[in-house]
Amino acid sequence: MNANDIKKVAVLGAGLMGSGIAQVCAQAGINVVMRDIKDEFLEKGMKGIKDGLGKVVSKGKMTQEDASAIVNRIETTTDLAKAVSEADLVIEAIPEEMKLKKEVYKEVSKNVQEHAIIASNTSTLSVSEMAASVKKPENFVGLHFFNPAPVMKLLEIVRGKRTSEETVQFAKALANRLGKTPVVSIDSPGFIANRVALPLMIEAVTALEEGVATKEDIDTAMKLGYNHPMGPLELADLVGLDTILHSVKGVGDKLKSPRWKPPKLLEQMVKEGKLGRKTKKGFYDYP
Ligand code: CAA
Ligand code: NAD
Repeated sequence: MNANDIKKVAVLGAGLMGSGIAQVCAQAGINVVMRDIKDEFLEKGMKGIKDGLGKVVSKGKMTQEDASAIVNRIETTTDLAKAVSEADLVIEAIPEEMKLKKEVYKEVSKNVQEHAIIASNTSTLSVSEMAASVKKPENFVGLHFFNPAPVMKLLEIVRGKRTSEETVQFAKALANRLGKTPVVSIDSPGFIANRVALPLMIEAVTALEEGVATKEDIDTAMKLGYNHPMGPLELADLVGLDTILHSVKGVGDKLKSPRWKPPKLLEQMVKEGKLGRKTKKGFYDYP
């Protein structure tokens, strides 16, 4: 499969990442079908896309016609078989839970075209383990987009144990078509970026928990001291505290390192439904 020949992409999940990935593909001129389990989630995802494009239009960086054309390239459905049956590429962006992802891959595999590439946007889970649930594991690859997907330039490609070289080359060409810069990682816990970045977020939460400083001062220290665009606690709110907790536990279990123990405060906040921006409450409030 050549990345320039893609006619249709199916994006599974219309949350933070799925909606952003759908926008990126549609912006590159590709027809997209976005699938979620309820219409209300699809509507929320489409609203996020329209609002994001609206900001770009209001800055004079895109015409309203171009923004409308992008939106019109995205259709939505709750029907999984319908979503994937005509797709050349399926990108899964559902919650970071292996069991759930495997169940979905089994269904995808039954309905997808022979030549289709299947990709996961997983932050940390094993791509090789997911690939074992599809008929053609050589066509399976990790395509890790960063949040917010329309803005962040990186595409981390994860080569599973059985991913073919052709599929990796496809992923690199796709990155170019989408205006992203690819890096390639083997299937190791946390890959490259989260292996390095998650311990920073864990330490920031632990420092807050231990009363080292206020949340504002922790974030300011990293923004002004290290030139990070966001502080680690603001970033955790952007990513979603549930996603961070799943990722930290998943990588920690595999690396067996005490550095990867989830802070109690993080577990508590997730239990209370304080998941960050998506629930309007996290380390900060988002009224
Ligand atoms: N669609 C298209 N363009 C968009 C957009 C959208 N939805 N939203 C914003 N943009 C554009 C804006 O138009 C703007 O473009 P210009 O510079 O040309 O004007 C640019 O993106 C920046 O947007 P804003 O001015 O609105 O916002 P900002 O300057 O405050 O930056 C930010 C916001 C990009 C989020 C920045 O704060 C940032 O880079 N934060 C760090 C993000 C980060 O680290 N992400 C990684 C998270 S970890 C992860 O993703 C991996 C994982 O597995 C968990
Ligand atoms: P999210 O909670 O915002 O969205 C997940 C969406 O998937 C929800 O709308 C949910 O209803 C939907 N969903 C659940 N089961 C589904 C199914 N069977 N079929 C289709 N949709 C289903 O989560 P997110 O932050 O978008 O994360 C999605 C994936 O992307 C995770 O694997 C996560 O680790 C990864 N990721 C997240 C970030 C981030 O910053 N949040 C960055 C990179 C990668």
